[in-house]
Amino acid sequence: MTTNRMLVLAERPTAEVTDACFELRTEPVPDTAPAGQLVVRTCWLGFEPAMRGWLNDLPSYTPPVAIGEVMRAWGVGQVVSSSHPEFDEGSLVHARLGWQEYAVVDPAADEVLAVPADLTSPMLMLSACGLTGLTAYFGMTRIGRPIEGDTVLVTAAAGATGSVAGQIARALGARRVIGTAGTPEKRAWVRDVAGFDDCLDHYDDGIRRALRRAAPDGIDVVFDNVGGSLLDAALFNVANGGRIVLCGSISTGYRPERPEVGLHYYQLLTSRSARMEGFIVSKFADEYTDARRQLQQWVTDGQLRVEHDVLHDLAAAPAGLRRLFEGGNQGKQLLQLAEPH
Ligand SMILES: NC(=O)c1ccc[n+]([C@@H]2O[C@H](COP(=O)([O-])OP(=O)(O)OC[C@H]3O[C@@H](n4cnc5c(N)ncnc54)[C@H](OP(=O)(O)O)[C@@H]3O)[C@@H](O)[C@H]2O)c1
Repeated sequence: MTTNRMLVLAERPTAEVTDACFELRTEPVPDTAPAGQLVVRTCWLGFEPAMRGWLNDLPSYTPPVAIGEVMRAWGVGQVVSSSHPEFDEGSLVHARLGWQEYAVVDPAADEVLAVPADLTSPMLMLSACGLTGLTAYFGMTRIGRPIEGDTVLVTAAAGATGSVAGQIARALGARRVIGTAGTPEKRAWVRDVAGFDDCLDHYDDGIRRALRRAAPDGIDVVFDNVGGSLLDAALFNVANGGRIVLCGSISTGYRPERPEVGLHYYQLLTSRSARMEGFIVSKFADEYTDARRQLQQWVTDGQLRVEHDVLHDLAAAPAGLRRLFEGGNQGKQLLQLAEPH
């Protein structure tokens, strides 16, 4: 008999996520998948800042994770038992697996997708071709819409979404792509590997002026992952007709007790005929297949460089989520639980 280890939500965090918020439980893994379902062995789990929001007992675009429920997460795993005609045993799938070593999933309900055989690494299904890559793709192509000659700013540029967003802006013809990131190593990676023209330190108190020096004619497209004072500094530098993509606001910690941060320079949206627009990627769910194909092509062509930051062991899952808010990750934060064979 194989045993499944899982992390269930034991108590809601009041500030940052702690290990004590989750409880380790075990249960037997079924030998055979129930009718129409799959038993999947988790190989990699992905982490997104939104997961912190799902732990708050507040209404949002998706229901909160319930106390006693396995922590919700997307992952890639290998089918060990299939009672569904479209998925063979041994095949790799992307699905809502949760923080557990084995998951019983229903292709009709758990967003199960076959991992394309020609993907150079299955991890790409969680990064460039996963939720964060899709977010970068739709945020940039549908809302930011850089055109040739534009100057583009991407905040949290060494992260999973930001690094892809900046490289897409370049592929669309942006003349100058600037990022922000928290450490010298990250800024070097953003410039030297992801090919941004410049990358600034968001901890610099003079970031507003540093942005002005980096983009003296103003910023045409801001792809913002951070919010707060960094968004304000970007707003101050927005060009006439600029577009500000509100992708996320990680500086809030997605914690309900944090005081709200006001924007001082919002009135420049009026005088510069600029606009801000937010989005949730699932708005574009009908177009995921084509977008994944394009993202995969860019990776294959070498136009899109992706970094994976991989932890190991289920017990490290809460730390994986914390790392996003502490700036511990470079590129897509993953947790590997098993090697596919
Ligand atoms: N709209 C949507 O549908 C959607 C979907 C997915 C993700 N998102 C959003 O996209 C953003 C990026 O998500 P991701 O999964 O790609 O994470 P990520 O960028 O890989 O990781 C988060 C990064 O944010 C930076 N950060 C954390 N706290 C910060 C702070 N107080 N000030 C400035 N930077 C801070 C850290 O980098 P540094 O070391 O550089 O500080 C950290 O590495 C998040 O805001 C997320 O909520 C939105």
